[in-house]
Amino acid sequence: MAESVKRIRVRDLQEKKGRGEKIAMLTVYDATMARLLDRAGIDVFLVGDSLGMVIEGHDNTLPVTLDAMLHHTQAVARGTKRAFVVADMPFLTYQASASEAVHNAGRLIQQGGAASVKLEGGHAVAETVARLVEAGIPVMGHLGLLPQHVHELSGFRMQAKCQEDADRLIEDARELQQAGAFSLVLESIPSEVAQAVTEELSIPTIGIGAGPYCDGQVLVSYDAFGLNDESVPPFAKQYASLGEDMVEAAREYAEDVRRGRFPALERRTVAIKSNQ
Ligand code: KIV
Repeated sequence: MAESVKRIRVRDLQEKKGRGEKIAMLTVYDATMARLLDRAGIDVFLVGDSLGMVIEGHDNTLPVTLDAMLHHTQAVARGTKRAFVVADMPFLTYQASASEAVHNAGRLIQQGGAASVKLEGGHAVAETVARLVEAGIPVMGHLGLLPQHVHELSGFRMQAKCQEDADRLIEDARELQQAGAFSLVLESIPSEVAQAVTEELSIPTIGIGAGPYCDGQVLVSYDAFGLNDESVPPFAKQYASLGEDMVEAAREYAEDVRRGRFPALERRTVAIKSNQ
């Protein structure tokens, strides 16, 4: 009989923080990757709008649509038995009004199969976060480097480097917790700022380029597994070279096809029918 798997929920993530157990999160974009990473015991799958860059080939996440997020979230949800699935809300699906945000987040939960949504920003989105939580939608916040603000920030660069910006970020983090966010991603900020937020909040923080003191870590899986042959952020640790392995395997396959080594020649016994 198939072993039953206990699904990870919001409460499990919060209890991990209480016990000082780190949370392992990776971005996932399809069902095959979800099945493999579920087997590896990754706690949280983020269907990140980074898919605009690593899957769709854009320079940033701004062109990602709600339909694209729905498509990938459905695939990830189908491949997941254990991990907690978070879907990113793409640019312009939550900024215009709280009711539009509730409607769009609701689709990621109802049609996409996500257990939660993530959106970027602090004070500016706190009211929207509260409305989503009231509607029963768990929200993960995202502070520090906000990729959807790439033009305003003049590129993907580290944030909260001066005291004033760090103080504002800590205040934003408090506000998001107060609004009901169950967790926060902290991207590209000094580790001492991430540590201060982590110590201040009762909800778990998940860092990316934010040092070792967060309650968990997230990486873009394509960076972690060496599938990204373009720019990889300096903080990303590469755990495998799957991109190189794939290029080698594809070369070998092409060689086999060209030399007639694949498929292997069959030994055929031709049955000769007698006419009698
Ligand atoms: O979209 C994404 O992959 C993210 C991570 C960088 C946290 O938001």
